[in-house]
Amino acid sequence: MRYISFHKDTSVFTLHTKTSMYQMQVGRYGTLLHLYYGDDLGDARIIHSIVNLDRGFSGNPYEADRDRKFSLDVLPQEYTAEGNGDYRIQGIEAEHEDGSHVLQLKYDSHEIRKGKYALAGLPAMFAGEDEAETLEIVLKDELSGLCVKLLYGVLWDCDIITRTVEVVNRGKTNITLRRVMSAELDFPKRPMDMVHFYGRHSMERLTERQPLHHGIQSVESKRGISSHHHNPAVIFCDHTATEDYGECFGIAFVYSGNFICQAELDQVDQTRVVMGIHPYQFAWTLKPGESFVAPEAAMSYSGTGLETLSHHFHDGFREHLIRSSYVKRPRPILVNNWEATYFEFNEEKLYGIAKAARDVGLEMFVLDDGWFGKRDSDYTGLGDWYVNEEKIHGGLPKLVKKIRKLGLKFGIWLEPEMVSEDSDLYRKHPDWCLRVPGRLPVRSRSQLNLDVTKKEVRDYIMEQIFKVIDSCQADYIKWDVNRALGNVYSQGVEAGKQGEVFHRHMLGVYDMMERLIGRYPNLLFETCAGGGGRYDAGMLYYSPQIWCSDNTDAADRLEIHYGTSFFYPISTFGAHVSVCPNHQTGRTTSLRTRGIVAGAGTFGYELDLEHMDEGEKKAATSQIAQFKASEELVQQGDYYRLSAPGDRSNSVFWEFVSKDKRDVLVAGVVLRSEVNPPVNLLRFRGLEPNLIYRERESGEEYSGAVLMKAGLALPVTSEDYESVVYRFEAKGEFESEKKR
Ligand code: DGJ
Repeated sequence: MRYISFHKDTSVFTLHTKTSMYQMQVGRYGTLLHLYYGDDLGDARIIHSIVNLDRGFSGNPYEADRDRKFSLDVLPQEYTAEGNGDYRIQGIEAEHEDGSHVLQLKYDSHEIRKGKYALAGLPAMFAGEDEAETLEIVLKDELSGLCVKLLYGVLWDCDIITRTVEVVNRGKTNITLRRVMSAELDFPKRPMDMVHFYGRHSMERLTERQPLHHGIQSVESKRGISSHHHNPAVIFCDHTATEDYGECFGIAFVYSGNFICQAELDQVDQTRVVMGIHPYQFAWTLKPGESFVAPEAAMSYSGTGLETLSHHFHDGFREHLIRSSYVKRPRPILVNNWEATYFEFNEEKLYGIAKAARDVGLEMFVLDDGWFGKRDSDYTGLGDWYVNEEKIHGGLPKLVKKIRKLGLKFGIWLEPEMVSEDSDLYRKHPDWCLRVPGRLPVRSRSQLNLDVTKKEVRDYIMEQIFKVIDSCQADYIKWDVNRALGNVYSQGVEAGKQGEVFHRHMLGVYDMMERLIGRYPNLLFETCAGGGGRYDAGMLYYSPQIWCSDNTDAADRLEIHYGTSFFYPISTFGAHVSVCPNHQTGRTTSLRTRGIVAGAGTFGYELDLEHMDEGEKKAATSQIAQFKASEELVQQGDYYRLSAPGDRSNSVFWEFVSKDKRDVLVAGVVLRSEVNPPVNLLRFRGLEPNLIYRERESGEEYSGAVLMKAGLALPVTSEDYESVVYRFEAKGEFESEKKR
């Protein structure tokens, strides 16, 4: 095999990606030790990294007899279990029928295969037979017969190693899993920062960086969605790491439900990181012969700073996770009626917006919430997926026909996982929602979660939804979720299995989405959860774009997009130009700035175009043309964060560079207009130093080296949030003589 090897004499496994290396060893007593993750070191085997010392109060396995130097409490390992004298955070915890919680996981066997493993019913990265390899290592608990298969997928080209585990009960008694982490990663003593993305509804994925402290720190969601509050993607890096310097490790969970990512700095300054389904209310009983498959985690390493780490994830997700053909295709530029009308519209109003959209050059009309059931507000109607003819006289097909006649495509909003109590569906099937019988449920946005663990519920909802899509031949679907899970109890599951409901709910959602994209492979599918409440790698397996945030304010979006960019490709950012003063913040930014910010995303409009004056309409038309001219670069180029919200530059700038380095777009916003301002020299990155780059509008020419080392002086701005754009194309070889 090319990427994975096993060295028999030393029992060392080595995984190679294009620039990184990951190594482990079957050590004494069958312990699977972690040796190394970092820059590729060729044939080296880093066995000297295992140093055994006698550590007080850190016990020794019985087999070690009088050897007090072998202690699982301090050894770097690949996957750990309860009850072996390792008191750190662990990979797996299981409860046996006798009430004990001990698992002694020892190396049993391994297999190296071509291609990448897949996970039935779960999102996972994929690759061709020759692009990837899989390593499966089986660890076994002899007494109970429980086997843990560790799966490693090596995606060489994008420097990603995926991991997950399958737990199989090969014993004779039931075993209840209480905790199954998908990945565990031990780091030797090194000072590290944790970079994570926290937030709230309408302000998601804000960036926070802090040094790891002794003890455990974690980010997590117990909300049944990956959440606005923490994102299941975390970076661990050197204290000194910057965008283009230092060692960084990233781990992203390919899952959209409850998660936990914990990091523990231990007694001897080693760090252990785990990522997996949150153990909160999790219990999964395996009868003899049964198995449980955990969701996947994707890891990457960069020895050259954060931007390279982002490139690994961006390339990896674009090439090996997002299945939609739209990942590399121009997407119809849309207008969405939500912020234009909210719930108050009729077919005339919608047609008016569509007509104005056509006139400025837009390509698709998206009908958002409020078109179905008795949905005149967010108190009612969810679950009744048939058109409200009081609002849309003549029904959807008639309206859609008119919209199509304008030359526009048509898209529609749905919220398939929810039900309103004031709906025909709820009146007929009150037991189809998550709810503890006899207890009053917690409402959120006045709605309840449908119990999609039940197949009959999924079948019914998908049948309704298919009818809607077929009736209007929709080109696009926006699949929304406007509450977290609550009242997590399924009336279709026996009492002893309620610990499975959170995960089974997520499996139900994935099943529904799989049915949707299976039936309509050409549909453009955007997921959404009250904005970015489910912005994760799991969702990207189904949809090529995710609505970033309910906050459409361009200034706030700078911060939201910045945080989102560390893991997720820019082509996945659902971003629209909305009206000013902005509906969420009351802030005013120029139409140009709103366009430039939304242009670093999927780009579209979400305002009443009929209310735009002629000047604004003209500006919109040219914004659309500009976006189209850069769409391929935005979708497929390398992304650089040139300046960050909160740094001293008073600006947020970004850059797209085509893979051949000949096409460059630099854009950004100067935040505050200043009197007597300092000169702001913006340094580009990722260019070819000896190429000449010509700015398309001004015709100015600079070498790549000049743009990267000396930078370009940003113009002095005269109002807050003024935006700046440069588009460069490479001319040919840099002739150093001529320049002199
Ligand atoms: C939340 C979404 O994020 C919004 O864009 C909009 O679709 C509303 N839901 C509709 O209820």
